[in-house]
Formats: sequence, C-alpha cells, structure tokens
Amino acid sequence: MSNSVETTAATTSNDTVLVTGGTGKTGRRVAELLAARGVPTRIGSRSAEIPFDWNDRSTWKPVVQGVRAAYLAYYPDLAVPGAAETVGAFAKLAAEEGVERLVVLSGRGEPEAQQAEQLVMAAGAQWTVVRAAWFFQNFSENFMVDPVIQGEVALPVDGVLEPFVDADDIAEVAAVALTEDGHHGEIYEVTGPRMLTFAEAIGEIAAAAGRPVEFVPVPMDAYAQVLTELGEPDEVVWLIRYLFTEVLDGRNSHLTDGVKRALGREPRDFTEYARSVAATGLWNAPAE
Ligand SMILES: NC(=O)c1ccc[n+]([C@@H]2O[C@H](COP(=O)([O-])OP(=O)(O)OC[C@H]3O[C@@H](n4cnc5c(N)ncnc54)[C@H](OP(=O)(O)O)[C@@H]3O)[C@@H](O)[C@H]2O)c1
Repeated sequence: MSNSVETTAATTSNDTVLVTGGTGKTGRRVAELLAARGVPTRIGSRSAEIPFDWNDRSTWKPVVQGVRAAYLAYYPDLAVPGAAETVGAFAKLAAEEGVERLVVLSGRGEPEAQQAEQLVMAAGAQWTVVRAAWFFQNFSENFMVDPVIQGEVALPVDGVLEPFVDADDIAEVAAVALTEDGHHGEIYEVTGPRMLTFAEAIGEIAAAAGRPVEFVPVPMDAYAQVLTELGEPDEVVWLIRYLFTEVLDGRNSHLTDGVKRALGREPRDFTEYARSVAATGLWNAPAE
C-alpha cells in the first residue's frame, strides 16, 4: 500500500477519504487508486489504525471525523438481514459529522441492496451508487480459489448468464465518484462487456491457466449440506443460498453501461483478467 494511505489519526486532513472494506476486493483497489492520486485515504476496517466495525456503532464516529468523502462497501453482503439499516444509519451519521459525499457499493437485482441505496440517498450527503454484477475476482480472491486450484468447481448454478465485472473497474468508478464532480445522483450499474455462464467462465480460467478445470453444477440443497458439513456458519450458508437461488435466476442477465458512463471507456473483459491472474501462478495445480 502506498505511503499516502493514512496511518495515524494525526495525519487527518479535511480532504481525507474513508474507504470502508479498504483491505477487501474493491476497497483495496479504491484505496490504491486514491493514493496514486495523492488523496489522503483512511482505511475503514476492523484491523485499521482507527478500528471500524459495521457491527459496533461505538467505532463509527471516530472513523468519519475529518472525512470529506466515504466509500461504503458493507461486509459481508447487503443482502444479509439488517444490512440496509446498518449502512443507512452509518451514512446518516457520516453526513451529520460533515462527510459531504458518499459512494455506496451495491448489488444488482437485490431488493435489500436497493433498500440500502435508498437510505444512503436520504442520508443528507451527495451520493453515488455503484451497483455491481458478480466480480471477476470471486474466482481469484474469494471462495472459488481453492476449487479452481483443485481442478473442479462445483456450484449450485447451471446455464444462467452473468455479466461478470472486474473489481478494478468498480474501484475506478468509485475513485472517480469520490474525487471528481459530476457524479452526484448517479446510479452506475456496472457490468463487464459480455455475459458468461459459470461453465464458460471456468472454461476461460482453464484455458488461461493451461490446465483442466471442470465445472460441475450441483443441486442447491446438496451444496448447502456440504457447506454445513464443512463447518460454514448458518449465515454464510443462508447467504450462498440466497445469492445462487434468488439473484442468479436470470434477472441480471443483461449488459449495462455504467463503466462507460462513469469512465468514458469500455469495461475490461474476462479473458484479459483470466490471463493476468493465470500469469501470477495463483491457479496452478497443487504441488504433488
Ligand atoms: N462479490 C460480488 O460479486 C459482489 C457483487 C455485487 C456487490 N457486492 C457487494 O460487495 C460488498 C463487499 O465488497 P468487497 O467484496 O469489496 O469486500 P470484501 O472483500 O468482501 O470485504 C473485506 C473487507 O471488509 C472488512 N470487514 C470485514 N468484516 C468487517 C466488519 N464487521 N466491519 C468492518 N469491516 C469489515 C475487511 O477488513 P477487516 O477484516 O480488517 O475488518 C476487509 O477490508 C458487499 O456489500 C456485497 O453486497 C459483491
């Protein structure tokens, strides 16, 4: 991480941008882009210099003090019960404490996420919504990494087309909205440039990695049972079930122009992403 990311409260300036989830998939990229622009940046996470926890309201006020703009990436997902109210309450407090601009990361086709968007819009600050498709990086920075390495990705989905989007594009849209004028009141629905089934995405990964990786569609109940047997908490199993049954039902199977509208260029393609991750060796076969 660049040196211009704030490390102590003492370096706070009124230009500081708070990046919640600032060590996560999108937040890390947002923080890096802001640092490259010379913007004083404060990471908002439980392990940051000023600890911030969505589930502990006593941590909220210290983290927004002296902040001009904030990126809101809720963890684990805006779909979980209570998430919208939590994000809305945080946005309201931030606006009351003088934060002028809020950029919220949201998900496509999720009623709960859209409820969170509404609460951010009503918080009293300028707002921008970045409403994202499934991230490319779920295959390289999330729960699908190990199955890819093992050579078999079993998921409770089959045939649905998803316009996967690059977290680098999401972060760039967010960074621009946080630091440049002209994005207040915009809902940027961001997708990649083409739709892929999960089987096709895994096929692209296999081609890029130069090794066989099989995609296996499985029934939702069987998948949930395996997760439970592996010790995943009930909330995680619930969330996976929700995402794969409620959201990946075809409702999001269309392309949108959010990246082009915000950045004036086309979104990055999955093939480019797959090649660049494969080149790092992340998806190589496990050592014998
Ligand atoms: N994945 C997708 O395809 C997708 C698609 C559309 C929308 N979304 C939305 O993306 C959001 C997640 O964004 P992301 O994927 O960029 O983040 P992420 O990688 O899932 O989040 C990890 C970050 O959250 C922090 N964190 C974890 N628990 C926390 C807590 N209790 N309080 C405060 N911070 C916490 C972590 O730092 P610490 O561990 O130090 O706290 C880390 O910085 C969700 O709201 C989801 O709805 C995801």
